[in-house]
Amino acid sequence: MDHQRQQWRSKMGFLLAASGSAIGLGNIVVFSANAYKFGAGAFYLPYLLALIVVGLPVMWLEFGLGQTQQRAFPQALKNIGGKWGEIAGWWALLNALIITMFYVAILGWVLGMWWKALVGSLWTASVPLKGFAMTSLPNPVGSFFSLISSWNNILFVGIVWALNLILVFKGARSIEKGVKLMMPLMWIFMLILVLIGISQPNGIHGIYLLFTPNFAALGSADVWNGAFSQIFFTLSLGFGVMTAYASYLPKESDHNTNALIVSTMNCSFEMISGLAIFTLLFAFALTPKASTLSMMFFVVPKGIAKLSGMQQTMGVMFFTLLLVAGLSSSISLIEAFAAAIIDKFQWSRSKVILGVALIGILGSFACALPVIVDKKLATTGTMGLTFVDFLDHYASKYGLLLVGIVECLIIGWVMPAHKLREALNENSRIKIGAWFDVLIRYIIPIILLIPVCLTLWGAIQGGLYGSKYPLGSFRWMPWFSAALWAGVTFGGAFILTSISGASREEA
Ligand code: PHE
Repeated sequence: MDHQRQQWRSKMGFLLAASGSAIGLGNIVVFSANAYKFGAGAFYLPYLLALIVVGLPVMWLEFGLGQTQQRAFPQALKNIGGKWGEIAGWWALLNALIITMFYVAILGWVLGMWWKALVGSLWTASVPLKGFAMTSLPNPVGSFFSLISSWNNILFVGIVWALNLILVFKGARSIEKGVKLMMPLMWIFMLILVLIGISQPNGIHGIYLLFTPNFAALGSADVWNGAFSQIFFTLSLGFGVMTAYASYLPKESDHNTNALIVSTMNCSFEMISGLAIFTLLFAFALTPKASTLSMMFFVVPKGIAKLSGMQQTMGVMFFTLLLVAGLSSSISLIEAFAAAIIDKFQWSRSKVILGVALIGILGSFACALPVIVDKKLATTGTMGLTFVDFLDHYASKYGLLLVGIVECLIIGWVMPAHKLREALNENSRIKIGAWFDVLIRYIIPIILLIPVCLTLWGAIQGGLYGSKYPLGSFRWMPWFSAALWAGVTFGGAFILTSISGASREEA
């Protein structure tokens, strides 16, 4: 028995949804934070290479998997790799679920800052604080801490979950409606930001910095590491998202072209937002600490605060942009997970969505808690280092890349690669050559293994992630988060695989 599978109404709907998933916080702030950290002009060359050698081929692979199997990630991999394929698929999705938890928590903070930008408290000189070592902090840092140390924080996170639910409730249908509205809005807001950035005196120097190649830095392993992780995250690869979305298109779709369109849209958006942020940095002589959270909540708002007369409009626009870009990404994560559960158990969609949301909401609340519970975390200079950072470390530095390796190995060797390539080519105007097989079977797994090994080596030498930081009452966090990540992803994958599904066992 096969259940009626939902489908996109139009190819445009699919392209908007897939690029909506790809374009997110990763494009607006993570790219710039990474580019800054790795020396600006040093970053975009490895980044482009990572896009061509790894990003595009893996997107072909994930689209092709959804196209040929017409199933979400675990079931699609099960069709190819049997039980171990399914385990790998669930493991990927549980890793993605953890990312969803903190991604939505961060979007809750975005909404909180949006509110502060709107009512104006973000634009005062400083913010009084209660319960902290210091009695006040300058804006926007002060606003951020007053937000994440108050219970409103939880309220905003809850609202963002509600928005997510509205958008995914009817699956492809409601997602399609949502992205048709959100994607144009996002592009318009981003273009306005760039124009403002470029028109600032000295802003143009930021662009020079971003695009002047720095060949000396190419010898640094960190730069390459950063570029490959960035490409995976920004293109939404290794999450099972692209496979679920592609499985809602008919088998005879042209996915070679689709992947080209989605990755081009994503990476051009990323470059454009790099322009916006680097011009702001230069115009106002801002020197970011190279972390995503500080880029998003401190550095860019600081620049916007200096746009006299425009700060409120631009601030509200910037946070709306982040929120919309983030929502069109988080819904894809929720959908990918729900699709896998529905494929396996054939439960009703509304039940599954509510179940996934309940687990997700609890996780997001947990991510939003630390500074509420222990305000001292804000004063140790490690303020970003909360539950979010820990989970991000394991899920992105290990999880995503390992998923990439495993999916390439299963498809490359078991399917094997040429079969997927032939299926993709059959309906596509652009034909992929046999070099694809070599990339999938050998080159990409090796390339992705390098950063994973380097991170692991760092951990072996330097101890668990975060164990060196002053963590106040959260000293147990490094161990706890490592164990939690491993337990949830590995343990959960085994459990979900071992439960027998609905339709398949019927015969
Ligand atoms: N691609 C998103 C970004 O750049 C992150 C993401 C990945 C979101 C996968 C959803 C699914 O922010």
